[in-house]
Amino acid sequence: MTTDGMLRLHTLRRGAPGRLPLVLLHGFPLDHRMWLDVTDLLPGDPTVLAPDLPGFGTSPTGQDVAERLGAPADEPSVDVMADAVAAALRAVGVDRAVVAGLSMGGYVAMALLERHPGLVAGLGLVDTKSTADDDAARAQRRRIADTVLAEMRVDAVFGMRTAVLGATNRVARPDLADRIEGWIRDQGPAAVAWAQRAMAVRPDRTEVLAAYGGPVVVVVGEEDELSPPAAAEHMVQAMRDAPLTVVPRAGHMTPNESPEPVASALAGLLLRAQG
Ligand code: MLT
Repeated sequence: MTTDGMLRLHTLRRGAPGRLPLVLLHGFPLDHRMWLDVTDLLPGDPTVLAPDLPGFGTSPTGQDVAERLGAPADEPSVDVMADAVAAALRAVGVDRAVVAGLSMGGYVAMALLERHPGLVAGLGLVDTKSTADDDAARAQRRRIADTVLAEMRVDAVFGMRTAVLGATNRVARPDLADRIEGWIRDQGPAAVAWAQRAMAVRPDRTEVLAAYGGPVVVVVGEEDELSPPAAAEHMVQAMRDAPLTVVPRAGHMTPNESPEPVASALAGLLLRAQG
């Protein structure tokens, strides 16, 4: 589904009309395909929508999206990603949804919650964190952005093919590393650089979570080294009633390493949000 020059919004499943859709936001440097395993396992008859975030998959570049939104084209931000997701949803008549995001997708979900609170009927935080980067992480992101643009290739992020997996699956599931590398190879250097610069300036959104009264689930792989279980516990403690699912023998890519518990947590979230 295209949305008039805005983000590409994929309908992963078309369910019964009149129910809250589930919107799934992908991680970095990937696209909507990382959610297909979970989507296949969701019980019931949900509508599942998944945008490609700016520059990824077949969506327009971050600069194009920012210009279209009237935001500064030279200031990458997670807020622009969130505004673009909100605009893409509204363009197809969705003004309320359950929103779940993995890692970078979680940062976007939290920005949506702050900037478009009426849109978020339920929140799924998967292998993500509510805190901002420290100076070293920011500097590393800027180095990667400069490198991919200088080389005009995304080799500088190929290391993520294994870094995103848990220690168990790095050995047990080489097929997953190959699949993830295939997704990374499909992304362009401009998207990688823009997203790195956007994530580098994202604020701490722990207080946004603390103020949210809607249904939430938090999911983390017990072997996630990028958004570790402590980061998930920090978010859970900030909120009133956020069940935590710790996925055994999985790393950062729980939706692909172990999709069943992720689907189960999101199905529970949808039920609570439909209320
Ligand atoms: C992701 O999986 O989206 C990344 O780990 C996010 C990040 O770089 O902070």
